[in-house]
Amino acid sequence: MKNNNKPPFETTTLWDYPTQNYGNRPHGDNKYRGVTPAFVIWNLIQRYTKEGDLVVDPMCGSGTTIDVCKEEKRRVLGFDIVPYRKDIKQADARRLPLNDEIADFVFIDSPYSDNIRYNDHPDNIGNVSCENPRFFEELDKVVKEAHRILKKGKHIAWLIGDQAKKKKFVPVGFKMYSILEKYFKPVDIVCVARHNQTSNTPIWHQRAKKCNFYLRGFKYLIIMQKIK
Ligand SMILES: C[S@@+](CC[C@H](N)C(=O)[O-])C[C@H]1O[C@@H](n2cnc3c(N)ncnc32)[C@H](O)[C@@H]1O
Repeated sequence: MKNNNKPPFETTTLWDYPTQNYGNRPHGDNKYRGVTPAFVIWNLIQRYTKEGDLVVDPMCGSGTTIDVCKEEKRRVLGFDIVPYRKDIKQADARRLPLNDEIADFVFIDSPYSDNIRYNDHPDNIGNVSCENPRFFEELDKVVKEAHRILKKGKHIAWLIGDQAKKKKFVPVGFKMYSILEKYFKPVDIVCVARHNQTSNTPIWHQRAKKCNFYLRGFKYLIIMQKIK
């Protein structure tokens, strides 16, 4: 950790963090299942935004994006279908209460299947399995809405993982990449190492060996730019 507990500035496409948080203050809630590593958001806003820029997170969860952005003097708006705290506004990521082309950066760490029960709201996309084509149809609407609110020339970053369940593999990251590519110009893909997930236990490693499958070791961070 360098510069007053700030994370290291990443220069490669492999990001591996030992913990969810950095520094002495919380960024989001590391008890929230599916919380984003705060390091990821910190690094993205260093590269793609400057002080005073507006960052939007349409699926804000426990508010990691809000905390990191405020500390780094970015303006920020966080939405979620079920807000976890008062500074998160209730909205559906497919229909944001925002004008066209107002955001300087959009960050989304979306559900990547129905593996985590975030809430029982009927519009929670995380209640739809990635094995159901509807899952990607709904995320397509989220991408379209993010494209609408983003200014031309600005960037979006999307964090997502694959699913391997009961011998069925769904390449969720690749599917998401091809949806994003319909609207945006690809910039890069970063591999974010996963830690502390519930399957990182001896029994799961034993099962992976015995039943010949791999446990998920990383997530994709897909970075794209709005050209038109
Ligand atoms: C992986 S979590 C986000 C984690 C967050 N970045 C954090 O650090 O805490 C995904 C979030 O998407 C939200 N979500 C699911 N469907 C939604 C929708 N239609 N509109 C807005 N948010 C939605 C869930 O409620 C959940 O909080």
